[in-house]
Amino acid sequence: MARAPGQPYRIGVLGGDGIGPEVLDQGLRVLDAVAAQEGIQYERVDYPYSGAYYLETGKLVPPEVIEEWRGLDAVLLGAIGHPDVEAGLVERSVILGLRFGLDLYVNLRPIKLYSEHLGPLKNKGPDDLDFIVVRENTEGLYSQIGGRRAVGTTDEIATVTGIYTYKGVERVIRYAFELARKRAAARGPGGRPARLTLVDKANAIRPHQIWRDIFAKVGAEFPDVEQEGAYVDACCMWMIKNPEWFDVIVTTNLFGDIITDLGAMLQGGMGIAASGNIHPGKTSMFEPIHGSAPKHAGKNVACPIGAIMAVGMMLDHVGEEKAAKKVDDAVARLLQSGRVPSLDARSGISTSAMGDMVLEELG
Ligand code: IPM
Ligand code: MG
Repeated sequence: MARAPGQPYRIGVLGGDGIGPEVLDQGLRVLDAVAAQEGIQYERVDYPYSGAYYLETGKLVPPEVIEEWRGLDAVLLGAIGHPDVEAGLVERSVILGLRFGLDLYVNLRPIKLYSEHLGPLKNKGPDDLDFIVVRENTEGLYSQIGGRRAVGTTDEIATVTGIYTYKGVERVIRYAFELARKRAAARGPGGRPARLTLVDKANAIRPHQIWRDIFAKVGAEFPDVEQEGAYVDACCMWMIKNPEWFDVIVTTNLFGDIITDLGAMLQGGMGIAASGNIHPGKTSMFEPIHGSAPKHAGKNVACPIGAIMAVGMMLDHVGEEKAAKKVDDAVARLLQSGRVPSLDARSGISTSAMGDMVLEELG
């Protein structure tokens, strides 16, 4: 993060594909409003990288742009993915380009139900659903190690190797322990104690034991944090059956990807879920967790709340905690008001109208 005191923040903006640009526009309107209220100055640096841009120009993200991103204060991303481009090509260039290129080793994904009417679970309300997933974001089965031979024949072989390094696992587990401690401190005395759940599959995938070993080792430094391990299949069951057990979850890249889509549904749908791709103290990237949803693109129907929450997470990361809390509180008030029936494209509230409603709540 290159900002000198008194200088405006420099925020990279990648609207991307499909509904990405329209939801991010609403996020940026909210950013403008809260920045004006709080006297925050920022400069926006736009980037065109997307599936659509690739189809037009044949260009993916060049290495010098990744270098340039390192000099920004933060990056906001809408969504990447185009139906006419080979699956994953642009996603790997842009999303994994940011995650790996900026070494954003934490993917932080809050799962919080703001109002009972938005959730799908019987007898589970806001008090039962308030946890956060710390997804490892630079290793695991996303390491791009593997390949295919004899493609298209019945002799075909495909391999993929998951990478778990001591340093990579240790730093994300440590981050999660510190986060659990911080959340418990914010709840105050009398609030529920800190708890960290490690999610892996060390029974079937024996090398996952490295997670258990490091969890135990780092955990010895955090006697104030309750510690437990869960296999990922059981975790899915508990997320539905007893979501109130969870406070902070730390897990591998792929498992974090999977359980946070489930988590998004528990909080009302993909339309609300936001994430921070974080390297503490360095340029980090913030995005809604939904994809480009081409069928909803350009229709002003997608829910922008996830993009707005991503802006809130970004403000928090750059040290504008007060502004971040204002965004979060505005969304919470809106969702608790009952004026929003659902957080999907069928809510009857347009993308821009939802932005207006959040702005109204901001005052
Ligand atoms: C996510 C997405 C990405 C991932 C895809 C688009 C590469 O599903 O951010 O959860 O798998 O991480
Ligand atoms: Mg995903």
